Amino acid sequence: MSIDKLIECAYEFTEPSFITFVSPGEKSMLKVAVILGSTRPGRNGEAVARWVYDMAKKRGDNNSVDFEYIDIKDFNLPLLDEPVPPSQGKYSKVHTKAWSVKINSFDAFIFVTPEYNHGIPGTLKNAIDFLYREWNNKAAGFVSYGSAGGLRSVEQLRLVMAELQIADVRAQVTLSLFTDFENFTKFKPAAYHEKSFNEMLDQVIAWGKALEALRTGKLAHYSSAPAS
Ligand SMILES: Cc1cc2nc3c(=O)[nH]c(=O)nc-3n(C[C@H](O)[C@H](O)[C@H](O)COP(=O)(O)O)c2cc1C
Repeated sequence: MSIDKLIECAYEFTEPSFITFVSPGEKSMLKVAVILGSTRPGRNGEAVARWVYDMAKKRGDNNSVDFEYIDIKDFNLPLLDEPVPPSQGKYSKVHTKAWSVKINSFDAFIFVTPEYNHGIPGTLKNAIDFLYREWNNKAAGFVSYGSAGGLRSVEQLRLVMAELQIADVRAQVTLSLFTDFENFTKFKPAAYHEKSFNEMLDQVIAWGKALEALRTGKLAHYSSAPAS
């Protein structure tokens, strides 16, 4: 769905009942988002996220898995400006509603993230913080990059995933600015990353499917929203 269409949907979005949302798990295709977490002009992230998306599309999962490239930048999210905590789903802003509709449509995520100051880029953390239930009971994997492979960013993201009730898989892809980029800018990934990528995606797909029972309410399920 285009961003314009999403914004149109967002205008119609009234009470964000997560029960009446179309459950992504009810569809036969598993929907996996490749989420690009950096937004700065000249970012390396774009080439990395495109590589991830292209490799995912090239695999033989296309009859059962649908991949979508999501660039946080396209959603023009400001610094979190919702007065009510996102876990309550009472969104007041059109940009939040558009982001909510989009993220709710997925069953699993691949986060493509750099490391900024030994941590998660603020843009990605801010985008994550806008929502809550849209993330719950889904799977996630990581592709990171940086001078130390972006590992510290992913370690922090794993802590955040727990609070969002996202099942984050063990296998991950860590790309080095020294060996996977020419002059730190031209992306030239070593061939061996493809193996890690496939392991990571296999795990994301398996867990994404396994959690479908929770997303569709087939298993006894408690309200996942915390009090605030
Ligand atoms: C604000 C900022 C902080 C950074 N801090 C780190 C860091 O702590 N560790 C690291 O390995 N690289 C760091 N880098 C280098 C980034 O890994 C590198 O610039 C990468 O390309 C950033 O991703 P992007 O191009 O998609 O924005 C930093 C870059 C920026 C812009």
